[in-house]
Amino acid sequence: MDAGNHSVVSEFFLMGFASSWEIQILLFLFFTIFYIASMLGNLLIVLTIISDHHLHSPLYFLLANLSFIDTGVSSIATPKMIYDLFRKHKVISLKGCITQMFFIHTVGGAEMVLLIVMAYDRYTAICKPLHYLTTMSPRMCICLLAVAWTIGLIHSVVQLAFVVNLPFCGANEIDSFYCDFPRFIKLACIDTYSLQFLIMANSGFISMGTFFILIVSYIFILVTVRKHSSGGLAKALSTLSAHITVVVFFFGPCIIVYVWPFSTLPLDKFLAIFDAIITPSMNPVIYTFRNKEMKVAMRRLFVKALSFRKSRVMQSKKFRLILTIIGN
Ligand SMILES: *[C@@H]1O[C@H](CO)[C@@H](O)[C@H](O)[C@H]1NC(C)=O
Repeated sequence: MDAGNHSVVSEFFLMGFASSWEIQILLFLFFTIFYIASMLGNLLIVLTIISDHHLHSPLYFLLANLSFIDTGVSSIATPKMIYDLFRKHKVISLKGCITQMFFIHTVGGAEMVLLIVMAYDRYTAICKPLHYLTTMSPRMCICLLAVAWTIGLIHSVVQLAFVVNLPFCGANEIDSFYCDFPRFIKLACIDTYSLQFLIMANSGFISMGTFFILIVSYIFILVTVRKHSSGGLAKALSTLSAHITVVVFFFGPCIIVYVWPFSTLPLDKFLAIFDAIITPSMNPVIYTFRNKEMKVAMRRLFVKALSFRKSRVMQSKKFRLILTIIGN
């Protein structure tokens, strides 16, 4: 039998939250505010780091890349989610669904590997400071970034390869805001038990594995710092606590969604909001409001922008003056 012939369903309905108008408006405000804050915050970080040569170090380049990825993460599902809130039939095409899953997993996978790279960066800076600049050379940074994106892409394509040809022949309601493998697979009209296991193994493994690598590396860094100096511990703790916060907020929901995906807890839907909207907007808050160097750099950028405007205004005045002279 050719599985492709079965596909009579070409659209899915996202259930979202079926609830009162008041709650829809509340959700609308919540999603919109978080989305705008996330985009502005992350773009500001990228802009500040790229434009300020004081921040041209591996750590900041990695942070800029994390922010860049976060703008991607929050843009995959959120705009449609906001748009859908007030639509009666929240339709998404099969292609749209597959596109969402592709980007969620590519970008999400890249972000996970990037977090490991950042932990490695901190480990080298704190535990092997003399080798830091040679280990984390610009070339190495670019290499590690390429690895992160490649792993993200492979992680995504491997899973998609198994689901693109699934036959759908009836059920078409996805009880969520956006498409993701656990709920999508359940709608297929064949037995998907082994497929569910495959997704769980892949997505579950990458989120659990990354989580443990990160936690172990943080513990390792803290133990190393404690052995060498008691004063350094406080400083290391304050740097790492930011990273650990991101990690817990990012991986907690992921692990619950993918490792117990097919019990389909109603909780999943709410946790999905975390990874789609809340976590990507938390990174700017954690990194910029706590980091003195970033704050100084932002002030410099702001001053530069102001003086640029001033000089533009003066130039245009001069230009107008010349025009009037010529005109006369
Ligand atoms: C990502 O990191 C690379 C290498 O360190 C850097 O050249 C690039 O500017 C960064 N990208 C962004 C968007 O910050």
